[in-house]
Amino acid sequence: MKVNPFKPNSPVNPGVFVGRLEELNRLELALAQTCAEEPAHFMVTGERGIGKTSLLLYLNYVAKGQIPGVEERTFKFLVLNLDVDHTTTQIGLVQRIKLHLDNELGKSEKARTFLKEVWSFLQRIRVMDTGIMPAEDMICDEVTLDQFSMSLGKVVQRICGGCSESPFDSHYEGVLLLIDEADNSSSELQLGTFLKLLLERLQRQECNHVLIGLAGLPELRQKLHDSHPSSLRIFEELNLGRLSDKEVGRVIDLCIQKGNETNQNPTKITSEAHSMLISFSEGYPHFIQQFGFSAFAYDHDNVIDRSDVENSAFGPRCALDLIGDRYYKNDFYNKIQKDSYRQVLRIMADDLDGWVTRAKIASRFKGTKTTLNNAIKALRDRHIILPKEGEKGIYRLQHKGFALWIKLYGDP
Ligand SMILES: Nc1ncnc2c1ncn2[C@@H]1O[C@H](COP(=O)(O)OP(=O)(O)OP(=O)(O)O)[C@@H](O)[C@H]1O
Ligand SMILES: [Mg+2]
Repeated sequence: MKVNPFKPNSPVNPGVFVGRLEELNRLELALAQTCAEEPAHFMVTGERGIGKTSLLLYLNYVAKGQIPGVEERTFKFLVLNLDVDHTTTQIGLVQRIKLHLDNELGKSEKARTFLKEVWSFLQRIRVMDTGIMPAEDMICDEVTLDQFSMSLGKVVQRICGGCSESPFDSHYEGVLLLIDEADNSSSELQLGTFLKLLLERLQRQECNHVLIGLAGLPELRQKLHDSHPSSLRIFEELNLGRLSDKEVGRVIDLCIQKGNETNQNPTKITSEAHSMLISFSEGYPHFIQQFGFSAFAYDHDNVIDRSDVENSAFGPRCALDLIGDRYYKNDFYNKIQKDSYRQVLRIMADDLDGWVTRAKIASRFKGTKTTLNNAIKALRDRHIILPKEGEKGIYRLQHKGFALWIKLYGDP
C-alpha cells in the first residue's frame, strides 16, 4: 500500500505549494504595511478549485512566522481563520472572533480575566440559533458594533502596541483576520458594511494593526458592492488565474518527490505521462491533483506511464468523472433546465474549447431558431460559454475539461 501524495480534496500544504509568487509578494506587502500601521486589506478571488484556500493557508504560515516570506522576512502575526456560510450572522462573526482570540490568548489567569472583562458586553446578547434569521436579527445594532470595535481594539492594542501593562505574554506585529468562502455570505449578513464600519471604528481608536483578507468566488465583488458600494474600495482584489505548464509540472514533481520520502518503493513517472498530466490539467490546480491522484493510484509497477494516466483519467469513477461531479454536473444539469440548451453544449464540445460559429451550431441543432437563440443567450448569461470579443456569433466552452466531460459523461 502506497500513500498517495496528491490531494484533490483538500488545500495544499506549503511544502507542495507551487507558484503564486506575484500574489504572495503582494500579500506580504500587506503584512508589512500592517506592521507600519497602514494595513492594505485584500480579497483573493477565483473560480472553484483554483487555489484560494491553499493560498490563504500559505499566507497563514508566513504571517505566523512558520515559514519565511519571499524576501526572507519573518513575521509574527496572530491569525484568525474564519469562513462564512449563508446562515452566518454578524453576531455569529463577532462571537467567533472572540472565541478565536480567547483560544489563542487566554493562556494565563491574568489574560483570561482581562478577556472576560473585555467581552462582558456579549453576555447581554442572546445566542443565536443556526438557521436563516429574519434580516433584523442578522446584523449587530450600532451599540453592539461600537462595543465590539472597542473591545477588539483594546485586545489588539495590548498585543501589538507598546502597552507596558499587557496581560498577555506574547507580542504580535498585527492581527490577520482571514474570512474564506466570503461569497457564501447571505445578503442579510451585510458583510461589506459590517467590515467597513468595523475598520473605520478601529481606525478612530488608532488601532491600525488589524489586516482583513477575504477569499471567494468572483461573485464576492458584487456581494460586497451590494452590501456597501465603497466597501469594495477597501479590499484590493487578487484574482487567481491558472498555473503555467511549468508550474503544473513542478506540482507533479513535488508530489512524487514527497511520496517517495514516505513510501518504501519510490515511484517514477515517464516524461510522456508527465506531459499528458500537464496537458489534461489545463493549469487548474484542482485538476492536477485529481489526475495525479488517479494516475498514482492506478499504477502498480512504480512507474507512472501513458497507460496509467489514460486508464485512470477517463471512465466511470475515473479522474474526469470525479472532477465532473464536483465542478461540471451542476453547470450542466442544474444551472440549465432545458435539454435544448444542453444540446448546444454537446455540439460545441466536439470542438473542445475551440471557437465555434453560430452557423455551425445551427447546422446541427434540432429545434427552432428562437430556441437556439434563447439557448445561446442563457448559456452566455450563465458564463457557461464565452463569446469572442469583437466578433459576433462566435463562442467557445470555458474549459477543455468541460468539453471532454460532456463528450464522455454528458449524453442522455
Ligand atoms: N499553488 C498550488 N500548488 C499545488 N496545488 C494546489 C495549489 N493551489 C491549489 N492546489 C490544489 O488544488 C485543489 C484546490 O485548491 P483549493 O481548495 O485551495 O481551491 P479553492 O479555490 O479554495 O477551491 P474552492 O473554490 O472549492 O474553495 C486542492 O487539491 C489543492 O491541493
Ligand atoms: Mg476554498
